Amino acid sequence: MNQKIRAAITALGGYVPEQKLTNADLEKMVETNDEWIRARTGIEERRILTEPGKGTSDLCAPAVKELCEKRGIGPDEIDGLIVGTVTPDMFFPSTANLVCDKVGAKNAWSFDLAAACSGFIYSLTVGAAMIECGRYKKVVVVGADKMSSIVDFSDRTTCILFGDGAGAVLLEPNFDGYGIMDTIIRSDGSGAPHLHMKAGGSLRPSSYETVAGKEHYIYQEGPAVFKFAVKGMADVSAEILERNNLTGDDIAWLVPHQANKRIVDATANRMGLTRDKVMINIQRYGNTTSATIPLCLWDWESQLKKGDNLVFAAFGGGFTWGATLVRWAY
Ligand code: UT7
Repeated sequence: MNQKIRAAITALGGYVPEQKLTNADLEKMVETNDEWIRARTGIEERRILTEPGKGTSDLCAPAVKELCEKRGIGPDEIDGLIVGTVTPDMFFPSTANLVCDKVGAKNAWSFDLAAACSGFIYSLTVGAAMIECGRYKKVVVVGADKMSSIVDFSDRTTCILFGDGAGAVLLEPNFDGYGIMDTIIRSDGSGAPHLHMKAGGSLRPSSYETVAGKEHYIYQEGPAVFKFAVKGMADVSAEILERNNLTGDDIAWLVPHQANKRIVDATANRMGLTRDKVMINIQRYGNTTSATIPLCLWDWESQLKKGDNLVFAAFGGGFTWGATLVRWAY
């Protein structure tokens, strides 16, 4: 009998740089204070990659190596690797190509996927489809961003929010009903004016003028994005429950993108979840963009049980947003 192939997460890896940037450090850099940052965002500290000559691929490589060691596989067994990121080492080649070289994944196809804060959910959806089609047996999905490379540390409205990190999952075929059960991904490019990088792309290539104007940094209209994020993340999370005939009672964990604790709370309320079922580590890492969801899984791995229903949910630049329902496989 032909059974449906599902893509199950079978191993996890993560990496955050040693160096911490605390709210107290930021108080010395811009006009802000610990109380404001905690109350408005939930963040206490972030990790920053300060070592010269290191980029996003250097965050990814240790996460992928950890995952291979945990699963007991060699990197040459990886069929494909996707990196969700908006802070690639360089425009080309893709960061995923560089990661494969760094870890010795010699037999893998690899590419990057840009969906901002929804980068992990988008990449997971694509990686899962690669497994579900039956052609590939081991696909690695990484969410990674070196946000400190595009943050203006003189802009208090953005520099307090972001941190650097990477999280990786291994996807393998499962025939017993575990793995990625459903996913919803959405986009609306009319949201671009509220959250984008003004220069450095083909529309407005980098020049002395753009650098002087600080146009190579993140531009965000925080309150406008906040409004869309609360609605987008909560709507899609409720929708994925409804269409799978589930309620909050059936969910073991909400694994939300960590942009702002208040956005996470709104999503949990809409799903009817109590706080003890919500993974929150924003206080330690800030918003690591594509890395937030896999870093939560990495932190909570020992508490996850086979058969647990998890909902991943994210909202970010684009706008992009989405939710994934996972039945935990180990
Ligand atoms: O992950 C990708 C998607 N991004 C998001 O989901 C982010 C969504 N937006 C947010 O999370 C929130 O809008 C922020 C955390 C960015 C800002 O919080 P807010 O409650 O929306 O604050 P606000 O921007 O409306 O600013 C309130 C006040 C302003 O002062 P006035 O005009 O009331 O006098 C700001 O100038 O707080 C001021 N302010 C600060 N004060 C101290 C802004 N940044 C700071 C700061 N420290 N760092």
